[in-house]
Amino acid sequence: MNLKSPDYVPGHGLIKGKSVLITAAAGAGIGFAAATKAAEEGARAIVLSDIHEGRLVAAVEKLKTESGLAEVYGKIGNVAVEEDVRALVDFAEDTMAGVDILINNAGLGTSKLLIEMEDDEWNRVIDVTLNGTMRMTRCMMKVMKARGQGGVIVNNASVLGWRAQKEQAHYAAAKAGVMALTRCAALEAAEFNVRINAVAPSIVLHPMLRKSASEELLAELESKEAYGRAAEAWEVANVMMFLASDYSSYMTGEIVPVSSQKG
Ligand SMILES: NC(=O)c1ccc[n+]([C@@H]2O[C@H](COP(=O)([O-])OP(=O)(O)OC[C@H]3O[C@@H](n4cnc5c(N)ncnc54)[C@H](O)[C@@H]3O)[C@@H](O)[C@H]2O)c1
Repeated sequence: MNLKSPDYVPGHGLIKGKSVLITAAAGAGIGFAAATKAAEEGARAIVLSDIHEGRLVAAVEKLKTESGLAEVYGKIGNVAVEEDVRALVDFAEDTMAGVDILINNAGLGTSKLLIEMEDDEWNRVIDVTLNGTMRMTRCMMKVMKARGQGGVIVNNASVLGWRAQKEQAHYAAAKAGVMALTRCAALEAAEFNVRINAVAPSIVLHPMLRKSASEELLAELESKEAYGRAAEAWEVANVMMFLASDYSSYMTGEIVPVSSQKG
């Protein structure tokens, strides 16, 4: 079975007038889809960040052209480097006169059996995926607390934070860490009116992912979904927008699966 994707859902002004910072926003997947959705949902300004300069410049231009939003900015940065994280948060704060919404999208995966895994590969995946999310969250929480006007953080986890898959021990451990970080940070951030939640997508196919995994594996993962297909990136971005908006005002520390997996 392969049920076709639904029609694209248009914006409803869910985050009207808000400023948004998104990491890993220049790829072909969820990050750029979240940026597009943020513009469609009424954001007044958006900072896109990514480690890849060429893609970032192109992504900023594309979003400006497609959305018509004038206030779209780009800032290069690696979430695994603390100085980059501070510079990125400072840039977004200054450029947009405060960040209302942070979307921590950056995450890195490889495929390797655990018995063949070297420390370097394990550490690289943990450092970008878990430590990068922690660094961004910590820095943003400090700034939002000092500003005293609340805010929202949406993290990108994965169903692999709950589930097992061969060759994914490092990535799954990192995503389970992102889930735990989300819950604990949310408890602390509630004291200064900052909500922190995460989405846990199952599978979103895009050209960069297709390059890094075999067709057989991707087909197998799609066949495990009740819908028999991967999610569209915008279907995950929609849930991020819900979590970023006041519609989820009584939710914090929650992990929301974006998945139709059966088991
Ligand atoms: N695609 C999926 O099937 C899927 C499923 C579950 C979870 N996720 C998670 O969703 C997030 C987005 O993944 P995606 O596959 O949709 O791709 P994406 O297009 O949203 O992100 C890829 C971008 O991340 C950037 N990037 C990589 N390392 C970075 C770093 N250290 N600092 C800043 N930017 C960096 C890359 O340059 C690239 O442009 C990740 O956290 C991923 O783990 C993806």
